[in-house]
Amino acid sequence: MTVVPQILVVGGINQDEVARVTRHPLPGETVIASSLDTFQGGKGANQACAAATAHGAAVTVQMAGAVGDDAAGQSALAALGAAGVDTTMIARVPGVPTGRAYITVSDEGQNSIVVATGANAQVSTAKLESVSPPTLVVAQTEVGAEAINDLSGYAERVGARLVINNGPVVELSASAMAMADPLVVNEHEAAELLDQANPPLEHLALARSLLNRYGSRSVVVTLGSAGSVVADGEGARYHAAPQAPTVVDTTGAGDTFVGALAAALALGSSIDDAIVLAAEAATASVGWAGARLPLH
Ligand code: RIB
Repeated sequence: MTVVPQILVVGGINQDEVARVTRHPLPGETVIASSLDTFQGGKGANQACAAATAHGAAVTVQMAGAVGDDAAGQSALAALGAAGVDTTMIARVPGVPTGRAYITVSDEGQNSIVVATGANAQVSTAKLESVSPPTLVVAQTEVGAEAINDLSGYAERVGARLVINNGPVVELSASAMAMADPLVVNEHEAAELLDQANPPLEHLALARSLLNRYGSRSVVVTLGSAGSVVADGEGARYHAAPQAPTVVDTTGAGDTFVGALAAALALGSSIDDAIVLAAEAATASVGWAGARLPLH
């Protein structure tokens, strides 16, 4: 009998309001958008969808999180369901709005994001003991440190591999950071975790420093179109990313990377092979508007 790996994603669920601009406003400046669109988003939800649709959908994906008792929450649940994500552990919190992200995307496809957390702040892991134990847990920090610290304890109890995406950066417990396999961050988040004002130029050193500082089982630092670096007990390695023929919108590319990485790891890939598959998925995602690949 073939056992289908199960992934549990705990993280943010948002409605994205996306304004296209020729360039991002400077502090105190007003710029006029050329368009305004609404998309499904939230880093955790984007990751769950990417995992559910990666590699021929050979894994099952459940998401735990929280939305408000509003239209945005309803459509977030419907979109997750349409991508094949089990939404039964997502709470609908009365009287609290679903998380919202206000995003500007420039002509070069680069984004900046402000998140109004809403119901994401209400996420609890208390009911997870009632679900069938996952093979791999993705912990995404838009839901705050407490839920992710609790989640790491749960992952340890059920013997699941723990992938932590610490973006936006929150201060997690030493034991959660040490369990991460991998800890996935972009280079700005990596610099923040290392208390540095700017990312250092040497990316392999960045990944190695995180590994040494937090004792994570492995660390992946994503570098956008420049690829990623991984550090683990075998040393530090660089992986180039395939170049995108067209860049429409980079929003959510990192989430697609994390979701596809998680699916590949759950299916038994080595971390290096998983990074190659994740980078292909992330590169494909920048050819589309919005944070997620369209469903076919
Ligand atoms: O990583 C992109 C995501 O960040 C968006 O979908 C937005 O909701 C924010 O959470």
